[in-house]
Amino acid sequence: MSRLDINIRRLQAQRACLNLMAEQIRDLPGPVFELGLGNGRTYDHLRELLPDREIFVFDREVAAHPDCIPDPAHLFLGDFQETLPRAVDRFAGTVALIHADIGSANAARDALLASAVAGFLPVLLRPGGLVAADRNVAFAEALAVPLPAAVAPEVYFLYRQAAGIELPETGNARSGGIRAFRAP
Ligand SMILES: C[S@@+](CC[C@H](N)C(=O)[O-])C[C@H]1O[C@@H](n2cnc3c(N)ncnc32)[C@H](O)[C@@H]1O
Repeated sequence: MSRLDINIRRLQAQRACLNLMAEQIRDLPGPVFELGLGNGRTYDHLRELLPDREIFVFDREVAAHPDCIPDPAHLFLGDFQETLPRAVDRFAGTVALIHADIGSANAARDALLASAVAGFLPVLLRPGGLVAADRNVAFAEALAVPLPAAVAPEVYFLYRQAAGIELPETGNARSGGIRAFRAP
């Protein structure tokens, strides 16, 4: 499969999965997180699918189409390892959908990043909350969600949070060992 075909397959899978996830969170309140603004393609698609949802976007830099840049109140700028703990403090147990589009051409680096990101997902998601990802970000409480028929396995990953997890009683999730959690 040529790089062009791989890219087309990836974009088609993204669209099909985001369409499905948007449908499935219809009755699930809470904000949506977009991890990886990039040039803003999937952020733009999500806000078109979910016009009444608050969408918070995370990236280390802003390099998106000018009309696909969130306002400062909805942008967490910086490395995920620094911004996701801040998001946990504010949104723990409330997020309806997390889209993690974090991949690059470096498979080894991506696997480490996916594992680190996976540690934040269960504490951010509300019970029944959903994850769509371009890398395997499975976590202990994750149930696999069937992919749309047109999407091949391992091209995209869909999960549902089985249940809420207990948050530290201090109220500061950052000090509660969340960083230590690693995907299986
Ligand atoms: C595949 S691109 C996202 C593409 C985007 N969703 C789109 O549709 O245009 C991945 C993005 O993740 C960001 N990224 C990768 N590792 C990161 C990290 N550790 N912290 C913050 N952002 C990161 C990169 O800057 C890049 O913009």
